[in-house]
Amino acid sequence: MAQQDDVFKKIVSHCKEYGFVFPSSDIYDGLGAVYDYGQNGVELKNNIKQYWWQSMVLLHENIVGIDAAIFMHPTTWKASGHVDAFNDPLIDNRDSKKRYRADVLIEDQLAKYDDKIQKELEKARKRFGDAFDEEQFRATNARVLEHQQKRDALHERFAKAMNANDLEELRQIILDEEIVCPISGTRNWTEVRQFNLMFKTEVGSTADGASTIFLRPETAQGIFVNYLNVQKTGRMKLPFGIAQIGKAFRNEIVARQFIFRMREFEQMEMQFFVKPGTELEWFSKWKQTRMAWHQALGFGAENYRFHDHDKLAHYANAATDIEFHMPFGFKEVEGIHSRTNFDLTQHAKYSGKKIEYFDPETNESYTPYVIETSIGVDRMFLSVMCHSYCEEQLPNGESRVVLKLPAALAPVKLAVFPLTKKDGMPEKAQEIIKDLRFHFNCKYEEKDQIGKRYRRMDAIGCPYCVTVDQQTMEDNTVTLRDRDTMEQRRVNIADLRGIIEDNVSITSLLRRIDN
Ligand code: GAP
Repeated sequence: MAQQDDVFKKIVSHCKEYGFVFPSSDIYDGLGAVYDYGQNGVELKNNIKQYWWQSMVLLHENIVGIDAAIFMHPTTWKASGHVDAFNDPLIDNRDSKKRYRADVLIEDQLAKYDDKIQKELEKARKRFGDAFDEEQFRATNARVLEHQQKRDALHERFAKAMNANDLEELRQIILDEEIVCPISGTRNWTEVRQFNLMFKTEVGSTADGASTIFLRPETAQGIFVNYLNVQKTGRMKLPFGIAQIGKAFRNEIVARQFIFRMREFEQMEMQFFVKPGTELEWFSKWKQTRMAWHQALGFGAENYRFHDHDKLAHYANAATDIEFHMPFGFKEVEGIHSRTNFDLTQHAKYSGKKIEYFDPETNESYTPYVIETSIGVDRMFLSVMCHSYCEEQLPNGESRVVLKLPAALAPVKLAVFPLTKKDGMPEKAQEIIKDLRFHFNCKYEEKDQIGKRYRRMDAIGCPYCVTVDQQTMEDNTVTLRDRDTMEQRRVNIADLRGIIEDNVSITSLLRRIDN
């Protein structure tokens, strides 16, 4: 665990050192849980967004996009239930004066039981070698059974308390499990209280009669309130989807793990409107489609899992998370929810508008049901970074830090170096860039020895480097170096585009999921 913490710390500092992510307003010592993306970060982030957008809007004829405003009519949030129920249960430790989410403290406790079980399994696996039978061991080992039984009992109690919104019981669980504050080490806990996560601000001056509005805590509502506009103007037929990428804001009580939980973040959401009664079929289809999108990045199927929700929102009839194996455990990156017709019905009620679909096949009108896929851009960014960060020992005894980013997501695709700053090599290198920059992102570097330049490019995940040398001036060939294998080969300048373009394009990823 400590080792994993170290790796995570290194990833965070790597993000800053190489222009991926900076603390917001860094010169003022930052602002809690708010971050800025630097010159390389913004490119990677844009590539992630493009991959998502194109997988939705290009690959599905029945999905269109919108870009709704962040500010919305305040009644939106009353109708959606956010004013009354978008709360987290918080608890304070009286000694450290630190505030925590009660549910997160309990989830961490559940993870501790899982860790204990994993440790027993690892010990036994080492002891028994090939003869180890995990299923049998789980069913018979006394210590594993004891941890599992405690975990299951806690899980059941926790799910029940969350479903019943029973704050006293949440506190009692924390006391019974003897959970201590990580800072003070004490169990001096306050009551558990609900805390609304929406940020408020005002529009208009006070003289004009200012009114309170919210910064949207999810982009989804911008889609629901535009359902009729899009359906009518796009002449959309069920089933159809509306996709959107945009900022969302939540006043998170516990901001931690870098860009995992932020107060200002970005979401990529798609609401898929379907005929009532078909929603669970679509839910299962979207689960598979979204998992395929993640796995096309090549990070290994074993690093993903579905986590079905214990606590279903009152309007949902199915919900699952796609979790990714981060250095701090399996964590939610995306949510897939079957939201019934709750949102459209609520907006119809509060706006007084009829929000329905006329089905030309059955000649009836009804309120569509909705399957939602909702993924955080920043969390996706973090998962990509965590998986790609790699420290390698090289055969010559040196080491390197390399970001093994999927080439299609890499901020810079090709770096071009003149071997020396003379003999026309810089001009030749610039000529190559001038030609290729229309097709993908290129970077010119002439400072330092070639080895150092390679290391800098490895650290930002640039998949290809080209060196212009004396031979180039004679026969128009260059050395092309591959980031991962570090192999170099001589290729003709005229062939560079053909070799690189397809591998670094978003299309290469899209092809993997379009089957
Ligand atoms: N419209 C549904 C919705 O917003 P959610 O599970 O609350 O569902 C969806 O959020 C996704 O948004 C999460 O899976 C996560 O990737 C991202 N997300 C939510 N809160 C976040 C936060 N505070 N910081 C970064 N990403 C967040």
